[in-house]
Amino acid sequence: MESNEVIQAKLKETAEALSEQKEVLHQTSGFLESVLENSKDIIFRTNSDGALVFFGKGGESALGYVWEELSGSDIKDLAEKPPDLESLVNTCIKDKEVIRKEITFRHKNGSAVHCRMVLLPLTNTREEVIGMTGVCRDITAWRKFKADLIRVDRLAEVGRIASGIVHELNNPVAVIGEIAGWIGAVVSDAEGLDEEDREELKTSVRHIGEQTKRCRNITGQLLSFVRESKLTTTSLDAHELLKETVDLLTPELKFTDVEIVYNFVQGTVFIDSDKQLLEQVFVNFISNAVYAVKEKGDKRGRITLETYLDDTGKSPMVEIKISDTGVGISRADQKKIYEYFFTTKPPGKGTGLGLPISRDIIKNLGGSLSFESEPGEGTTFNIRLPVS
Ligand SMILES: Nc1ncnc2c1ncn2[C@@H]1O[C@H](COP(=O)(O)OP(=O)(O)OP(=O)(O)O)[C@@H](O)[C@H]1O
Ligand SMILES: [Mg+2]
Repeated sequence: MESNEVIQAKLKETAEALSEQKEVLHQTSGFLESVLENSKDIIFRTNSDGALVFFGKGGESALGYVWEELSGSDIKDLAEKPPDLESLVNTCIKDKEVIRKEITFRHKNGSAVHCRMVLLPLTNTREEVIGMTGVCRDITAWRKFKADLIRVDRLAEVGRIASGIVHELNNPVAVIGEIAGWIGAVVSDAEGLDEEDREELKTSVRHIGEQTKRCRNITGQLLSFVRESKLTTTSLDAHELLKETVDLLTPELKFTDVEIVYNFVQGTVFIDSDKQLLEQVFVNFISNAVYAVKEKGDKRGRITLETYLDDTGKSPMVEIKISDTGVGISRADQKKIYEYFFTTKPPGKGTGLGLPISRDIIKNLGGSLSFESEPGEGTTFNIRLPVS
């Protein structure tokens, strides 16, 4: 028989071991809790029937539920296709198998949440399965990124093909334009032509000329974009260039009541840039404005060209504001106007290249572009460029 002292000592030893174990348990559960609280993954535990007994914070935010809504419900009902998940759960629990699979859950708001999932059987000390643990990583954003990459790749390919086609079209269109000019001259001087016929022919030839000019405009823009045309940078007077651009657009303004208002800062403002390129930018903004005003059909349409100097930053900038009292841009379209080939104009009137290309050019010049638009009221584009 052990003496009282021996029993006392053993008891003390056991108590110490127990307290040590308690400490380890405390630390482990603290560690687990912090992992479960902070992980962005969807981590859950079910009983052997697949009913949820735990659902982590990451899962709550990934699927939009709170634990109170999920407690006791079947995990399979959170999947987009419950029977698929049910069979995986069965394999995990009944066959004690670890499952790795991609699966789609449904967010509370109905959207799909694609996940890479691991299901692990949970056993007790007697090796009996008492449920399972699931860890799922949301790969929805990654999948979209992958799809975007493929799309960008395909777009680049389309771009390469398009630039080849554009290149091939450029010359025949130029020839057609020149021949139209020549036919025009012949028709004007031709003898023995009925005057009515002559006028009709002249109008037709003029149309050919105008339309080929349009084509060349489009091919020119595309080509300059694709091959990043050679730049010759000079110091340009922004005010003069804006006025020249308006002059260029006189034919477009001819049959309209659009009033052009200049509101320039005193003196000259010089910008280092390629003249043709910057002109292309201004042409696009001003012709977009003219179109918007015409579309509104307002008799007193107005386009205002303003400049401001801003020398508060590191380098002095000029702010060029082009505002119109046109139709404005709908909220939905405001998100899309910088997309390549986005246009609300009918076929033949717009290609949807003006804004994305202009933004690119402005960015390359070290500037920035923004806009404000009120549907039905008008639009203001704000171009900021460094002053030379
Ligand atoms: N000042 C504006 N007022 C109203 N809508 C505008 C204005 N500027 C641009 N938009 C909208 O943005 C779209 C895209 O403009 P963008 O200049 O890129 O192409 P586009 O004018 O349609 O064609 P392109 O310039 O290639 O001939 C336009 O179709 C129009 O819907
Ligand atoms: Mg345009």
